[in-house]
Amino acid sequence: MAEYKLLLKHSDDPATQTLAGYKKAGGYSGLAKALKMERQAVIDEVKTSGLRGRGGAGFPSWIKWNGLPKEKVKPHYVLCNADEGEPGTFKDKMLMETAPFQLIEGMTIAGFAVQGDVGYIYIRGEFIDAAKALRKAIDEAYANNLLGKNILGTDFSYDLHIHLGAGSYECGEESALMSSLMGERGMPRLKFPHAPLPTVSGVWERPTLINNVESYSCVPHIIDKGGEWYATLGASTKNSRGTKIFSVSGHVNKPGNYEIEFGTPLKELLEMAGGVKGGKLKACIPGGSSMPVIKPDAVDVAIIGYEEMGEVKSMVGSGGCMFFNEHTDIVMLAWRTAHFYANESCGKCTPCREGTRWMVQIMDRIVAGNGQKGDMELLTEVANNVEGRSFCALGDAAAWPIKAFIRQFPEEFEYWIEHGKSPVTSKEALALVP
Ligand SMILES: Cc1cc2nc3c(=O)[nH]c(=O)nc-3n(C[C@H](O)[C@H](O)[C@H](O)COP(=O)(O)O)c2cc1C
Repeated sequence: MAEYKLLLKHSDDPATQTLAGYKKAGGYSGLAKALKMERQAVIDEVKTSGLRGRGGAGFPSWIKWNGLPKEKVKPHYVLCNADEGEPGTFKDKMLMETAPFQLIEGMTIAGFAVQGDVGYIYIRGEFIDAAKALRKAIDEAYANNLLGKNILGTDFSYDLHIHLGAGSYECGEESALMSSLMGERGMPRLKFPHAPLPTVSGVWERPTLINNVESYSCVPHIIDKGGEWYATLGASTKNSRGTKIFSVSGHVNKPGNYEIEFGTPLKELLEMAGGVKGGKLKACIPGGSSMPVIKPDAVDVAIIGYEEMGEVKSMVGSGGCMFFNEHTDIVMLAWRTAHFYANESCGKCTPCREGTRWMVQIMDRIVAGNGQKGDMELLTEVANNVEGRSFCALGDAAAWPIKAFIRQFPEEFEYWIEHGKSPVTSKEALALVP
């Protein structure tokens, strides 16, 4: 299977960054079609397409869309999660920089379907170029009656704003994102069933739809070509439809964003990225740094799909696919990962705040050459006490990779603990040791 450029096709053509160029390439036919449909029919089309959220959790998008009240009594908000904080993932950045109209069109269709009044794109603060590209495109859309009052002469009016975050991983968690957007600290809120769903009471306690950049960017294609057509892509998988963009990085010859149809073997993604660089393949983290690491034998058989990746004990996640060659020190990788999640823990709940720091302390002593017998078991125990017990899923994101590194590469941890130094003697690996 080769690359399948549906969302990324615009990225190859800079002309589509102007409204005229985007329309020439077929853009805005999805919105024109949607505006002639019943709102529910648009939601049903998304249902037929089988679209699942591309932000990491793979939740069926139509269920959220359908969850906003049909009898509107308060303003409805449409949020786009453009925080893209998961290490290894850089596809939303590219989609915003190179295909801004695709996202705006997708969010406008979503706004129409859920009776949205205002949309916000919550962008990671460092993504200045993405914000600039979107600003320009939004201005052009307003000037051409594609945003604002009575869009394309209909009774649908919809405003769209950009909000720059401050570069906090936690602010990508949807309830923390809403808090941050409202000017509060970026901390998660209590979840359903202990609190209402965002679709009922989200930002400013109003019904809110929240989806990822890539999820919204699929929508113009789904409406334009039909949900049934979209669902033919990935039909070989159990329940993953359409395409998925993978940000491929690490020890590969051609790092970058690759869009593939679900059902593509993982090893083909590696081939698209030019194969492993600098030695034999040692490990792969398929879906972003919070996802469990897998070994080459699993890479050989893994099929890209939400359920299929589970068969090799990993996940599609946000699509940040990192390959590591034989000179990689897995313990150092675990050490770096543990530090990232501890730094990014917002501190609200005890299991995550304390647990991530405990994991860092144990990892610190291992890489300082002071590892103790039983440290692997202790690390796993701490991770088990964080997983599923934190206020939001940041705790899981911190625990899963550590457990997987130990499960997959126990001999490397044992070596470090016994000898106080790395089993990997390459210069690149040693340069990482603090
Ligand atoms: C700690 C944490 C960070 C997250 N960061 C992001 C992010 O940067 N971008 C994103 O789209 N989703 C992120 N998510 C997932 C969102 O909470 C949410 O599932 C997503 O925005 C839903 O959109 P989707 O259904 O279109 O995937 C994060 C989740 C957690 C727990």
